[in-house]
Amino acid sequence: MLPRDLAAVADRLKRARRVTMLTGAGVSAASGVPTFRGAGGLWRQFRAEDLATPSAFARDPRLVWEWYDWRRAIVAGCAPNRAHEVIAGWSRRFDAFHLLTQNVDGLHERAGTIGVTRLHGSIWTLRCWQDCGAAPWSDERVPLQPLPPRCPSCGALARPAVVWFGEPLDSADLVRADRACACDVFLVAGTSAVVHPAAGLAEIARSRGAFVAEINPEATMMSAAADVSLRGNAEIVLDALEIRLAAIDRRPSGV
Ligand code: OAD
Repeated sequence: MLPRDLAAVADRLKRARRVTMLTGAGVSAASGVPTFRGAGGLWRQFRAEDLATPSAFARDPRLVWEWYDWRRAIVAGCAPNRAHEVIAGWSRRFDAFHLLTQNVDGLHERAGTIGVTRLHGSIWTLRCWQDCGAAPWSDERVPLQPLPPRCPSCGALARPAVVWFGEPLDSADLVRADRACACDVFLVAGTSAVVHPAAGLAEIARSRGAFVAEINPEATMMSAAADVSLRGNAEIVLDALEIRLAAIDRRPSGV
């Protein structure tokens, strides 16, 4: 990560009124939550794409629930890390701040971030697989009993209230995400940017004039669309940006 790039992003943030962030699993990596792709991305021999689909659930709901129950148990033992903390602070710092997250772990909320749009739902919320009309409900028990859990209203299978591959995002979330793309700075952290529509949001923001920066230890599908790529872990890069912002805050005005 070049100090020049870090300074450029800090300077943009300092002057920004509307800031939007898009986060992915990499932001929770330092908390101990496994990412979906790359090292440690497999559960047993399965990829996320093998399990996070309606057809996988229809075929073997117990298997899919075992995977979610495993992830829920890991997350329950994790705490927000420095990346979550900095983002939580920024959610109060800027006039208009939006966090669009693909993460379903709830760590942004636990860190105190306000204005979170959970594009892919939450692993702590369940809903009826048969869509019997019962409202989604919160269930934070770890482990879940029974597995698979049942809808309290109709007794059918319950499913995690997350967005699976092949399913549309919630339309209100899409509207919020689209509005949030109208911003001064669009920061993308910890996502491989392969899952759409989230992966396309940075391009939309850029086409509307936003300065786009990416924070990731590796090059991704969206690196080419970023004005600046800060190569590093989110918990380190965001901390470094926060330090720079605080230093700019302390400067006498006009310097
Ligand atoms: P991925 O697992 O695809 O990507 C994680 C990204 O985080 C990679 O680009 C890593 O290089 C990066 N990374 C790892 N450690 C990091 C750190 N400490 N700081 C910053 N970045 C780090 O996760 P997502 O992009 O979030 O969807 O995946 C998108 C969606 O695919 C998920 O929401 C989930 C998944 O399947 C569904 O389940 C529908």
